[in-house]
Amino acid sequence: MVSNKKFGILFVCLGNICRSPLAEGVFRHLVKEEGLSEHFYIDSCGTDAWHQGEAAHPGSQEVAVSNGISLKGITSREISVEDMNSFDLILAMDSQNMSYLKDLPGAKPDKLKFMRDFDTKADSIDVPDPYYAGGFEGVFTIIERSCTDLLVHLKQDLEL
Ligand code: 4NP
Repeated sequence: MVSNKKFGILFVCLGNICRSPLAEGVFRHLVKEEGLSEHFYIDSCGTDAWHQGEAAHPGSQEVAVSNGISLKGITSREISVEDMNSFDLILAMDSQNMSYLKDLPGAKPDKLKFMRDFDTKADSIDVPDPYYAGGFEGVFTIIERSCTDLLVHLKQDLEL
């Protein structure tokens, strides 16, 4: 549950085992490095429940660990209608995720953005799905770059 004092960020993909847990771990790591953890509530989820309760995919865990980031404790869960109310910013990994989010009851367009809206080198709006294509190293690079820029923007917006 997002506390009143914290800015809530929710990373969303399809299965919540590859991209969004990686984004959650990377963003949490960057926020911690800057000593800003108390200001953020960070979570991730999937638009589907196929992998409910599972840990992040081994490929995501490996690329995270090799970059000094742990995804331990992150387990897959499906997005809920309550999430649309409680989070301040909801970031879709791709266009399919965004279409799903826009159609959810209580969806607020102002809160919905693409992860790659914050990618300074975006050649597509989609973070590719490493489960099928894209590769975990390539996806890590995109997510790390996007999360870095996202934090720059939020520090300005929230005056942190
Ligand atoms: P994610 O990747 O959305 O980045 O977690 C996927 C993981 C699993 C499946 C699809 C995408 N799946 O079809 O099971």
